[in-house]
Amino acid sequence: MNNYTQEDLELFEDIKNGKTFDSTDLMPDIYRKNLMNLLWMQADSEYAGGLGYMPWIAKAPNAHERVLVAQIVKDEMRHAHVIYRILDDLGERTHDHMLAHEFDYRIPDDLANIGFSRVKKDKRVNIFYYNITYWEDFCLFNFLMDRAAGHQLEDTLESSFIPWKNAIGTICKEEHMHLAHGDKTVKALAQDPNTKAFLQERLNLWWPRVMNVFGKSENAARNDIYIRLGLKKRTNAEVRDAFVTEITEKCKEWGLTIPEYIEAEQPLNYTV
Ligand SMILES: [Fe+2]
Ligand SMILES: [Fe+2]
Repeated sequence: MNNYTQEDLELFEDIKNGKTFDSTDLMPDIYRKNLMNLLWMQADSEYAGGLGYMPWIAKAPNAHERVLVAQIVKDEMRHAHVIYRILDDLGERTHDHMLAHEFDYRIPDDLANIGFSRVKKDKRVNIFYYNITYWEDFCLFNFLMDRAAGHQLEDTLESSFIPWKNAIGTICKEEHMHLAHGDKTVKALAQDPNTKAFLQERLNLWWPRVMNVFGKSENAARNDIYIRLGLKKRTNAEVRDAFVTEITEKCKEWGLTIPEYIEAEQPLNYTV
């Protein structure tokens, strides 16, 4: 468990009673450090995510889908830009950071499962290291990951950090558009006998990858601090449960099976 100082406990109490921070406010180290973790993780994920989607502007199956993919790529780039700007206002050097990392890097092995490990030194959530190889992957990514991100970002609507709270409303709306695109396309692929089996195969591959996004249960203490600092509302386990409930309902309706996920028993097959 965390060992909090008296000062930390007073800060938690103030935040609970409505204390907020702005970019120019003096922040206790514990607040700044945890805020930075979450902002960098979001910014790098949005940016890497946008780059991962980008090839699908040209590879989407028809003209209508090409427009939708282009819109999604634009949204992710905008989300990244908004969050990097917040980081710049906090004195970070995001331009140098973007030049220093290979954001378009993807693991070459299409069937890889890296568990909770990181592949490079950027801060993206580790699902963004996997390649989107097929159109089915793109649709599943919208269906699963944009939904997971939407759930996670929802908590930021009430963040104790004001610039983040102000930025997140439109980001959440756009994430909803992405996951609605995932729902529509995955449903269509599931209802077509020519695509259903392959869709299920790819769902089996992506499921543990997306479940890992919610973190290891043993890291629950880390989550506790985000909640105490007003940077999250729910534990990862609570957010994951809400996500799984939604996915389960839809998969059941469309005749898809969700594979079993046991955190400790994943067949990891890629060493970093
Ligand atoms: Fe996004
Ligand atoms: Fe998205």
